[in-house]
Amino acid sequence: MACAAVLIPGLLRGSSGTVCFQAAPLGLTPRVLRCLSLSCVMRSQRKSDHLERTANVVRQEVVSAAKVCAVANESPSVKRLRLLVADKEFSFKAGQWVDFFIPGVSVVGGFSICSSPKLLEQERMIELAVKYANHPPSLWIHNQCTLDSEVALRVGGEFYFDPQPTDASRNLVLIAGGVGINPLLSILRHAADLHREHANKGSGYETGRIRLLYSAKNTSELLFKQNILDLVNEFPEKIACSLHVTKQTTQISSDLKLYITEGRITEKQLRDHISKETLFYICGPPLMTDFFSKQLEASQVPREHICFEKWW
Ligand SMILES: *[C@@H]1O[C@H](CO)[C@@H](O)[C@H](O)[C@H]1NC(C)=O
Repeated sequence: MACAAVLIPGLLRGSSGTVCFQAAPLGLTPRVLRCLSLSCVMRSQRKSDHLERTANVVRQEVVSAAKVCAVANESPSVKRLRLLVADKEFSFKAGQWVDFFIPGVSVVGGFSICSSPKLLEQERMIELAVKYANHPPSLWIHNQCTLDSEVALRVGGEFYFDPQPTDASRNLVLIAGGVGINPLLSILRHAADLHREHANKGSGYETGRIRLLYSAKNTSELLFKQNILDLVNEFPEKIACSLHVTKQTTQISSDLKLYITEGRITEKQLRDHISKETLFYICGPPLMTDFFSKQLEASQVPREHICFEKWW
């Protein structure tokens, strides 16, 4: 149990924690265990550190001040934030994330934007949805952040959907696991905005068909379900979704039952949507992301049509 004592103040995640606990029966002395767990802590800090993981990823230069103007519970473990962005030069593409600088907190957060670029253009607002984790930026958002809290933001990331007006229309398949929905919701909202614009003006990018495959633990952790279903109902000819729950322990309420499948997203579902012209965007836990991107490659989808982002 020396291990547990060291682990509590650390930034450990489940996987490294398991390594430490498995080390105990091997007859290691408390001192060695202590060192082992400390190196676990350091490894896991390194692994979960957003700035280090994304050190080689493109970022914008602008660092903008932003003020929290709404905080709400999106699920039992996820807080949704709305931020008013001060700098007019701040812009992003649907799917990108922000470096999230908090005064007095030395660790920088990395969170995908879930709102559309249009909300920023019109109201200077962005939205984030942040899962509880034992990591300083997430702890600050869940325990200390209030209305009018001030932070600073910088946009980065190479996972985005940004078609130009003359680009050929393409179908999209968006595959999300857990909080991986964030950048994909931004992409879905952006595609819907482009479609509205095209319908109003008769020009601009013509959105293809979009299918969202989204899996979460249970119905309360299926984030933004109402926003997603509203888009499906607004554009039934363009947008479709399959919502999945993998660890549901209660009855699914009758209003949701129609839209939600118990069990994972299957390979067959994915195969039904494969074509040479389709673009695939995958965001979820590393194992899920690897699984589906390998499936797609094995089905002869060109690599440049498969975009993925992993979140720890
Ligand atoms: C889903 O799981 C979370 C976290 O374990 C729990 O708090 C919540 O009550 C569950 N919701 C449902 C509908 O089962």
